[in-house]
Amino acid sequence: MRVNVGTIREMKRKGEPITMLTAYDYTTARLVDAAGVPLILVGDSLGMVVLGYESTIPVTLEVMLHHTKAVVRGAKNALVVGDMPFMTYHTSTEDALRNAGRFIQEAGCQAVKLEGGVNVAEKVRRIVDCGIPVMGHIGLTPQSINALGGYKIQGKTPEAAKKLLDDAIALDEAGAFAVVMETVPAPLAALITRRIGAPTIGIGAGAGCSGQVQVINDILGSYTDFIPKHAKQYARVAEVMSAAISQYHEEVKSGQFPTEAQSFPMDEAVLKGLE
Ligand code: KIV
Repeated sequence: MRVNVGTIREMKRKGEPITMLTAYDYTTARLVDAAGVPLILVGDSLGMVVLGYESTIPVTLEVMLHHTKAVVRGAKNALVVGDMPFMTYHTSTEDALRNAGRFIQEAGCQAVKLEGGVNVAEKVRRIVDCGIPVMGHIGLTPQSINALGGYKIQGKTPEAAKKLLDDAIALDEAGAFAVVMETVPAPLAALITRRIGAPTIGIGAGAGCSGQVQVINDILGSYTDFIPKHAKQYARVAEVMSAAISQYHEEVKSGQFPTEAQSFPMDEAVLKGLE
């Protein structure tokens, strides 16, 4: 049976750590799903790790819907969260509702995520009222990178820490089923986790969150342009891929590939008839 928002809330209640990973395509979603990971995020981080942009800002709604559809086809049990990209929920509540609806109706995912706290709480409430589960995202919010002035730790001053707590409370009260906290000091993230009902999912926010999320390319070691401090590499997939690609290239050049094992024979008589 597919994981639902009730399952995720229950996991926090029971103190069961919640795992979330990003996926952007069918094949990866199948692997993540098969591993039993309960939450899959089709993150707009795909702008960087799949499409090669410098930030998430160029990612469009159409691109997100396209990738979310592929992930949904690969995920049979996990709850799939579609990440609402830049400027798809900022312009008006109507736009936010319409675009959140497209994720659920067209892409077939079970929830959406959007960035912001107090400033988006009313929109979160309205989307939740339509029956669409919403995941919040506070702390380092990459869609606001130009306003934040870089990928920096958030919530370090008393004012910034209070603002983060207020943002988390606003999202919780608006009905968000979970809140991502990105690049936040661990003690502050733990305090926020204790203060709100919704599960918190940390990325660079320490072990006191209800769960953890990582960009799959970071934990696999397949994206090497930049390795964030919060990421642990569980594999070096880029090295495995490079070695395989080079070997294939060498074998084609040297005539070692393909062999009979990768070829298809045919009836000699048919061939003779052509001579
Ligand atoms: O886009 C993304 O992958 C995210 C996670 C880093 C939380 O928002």
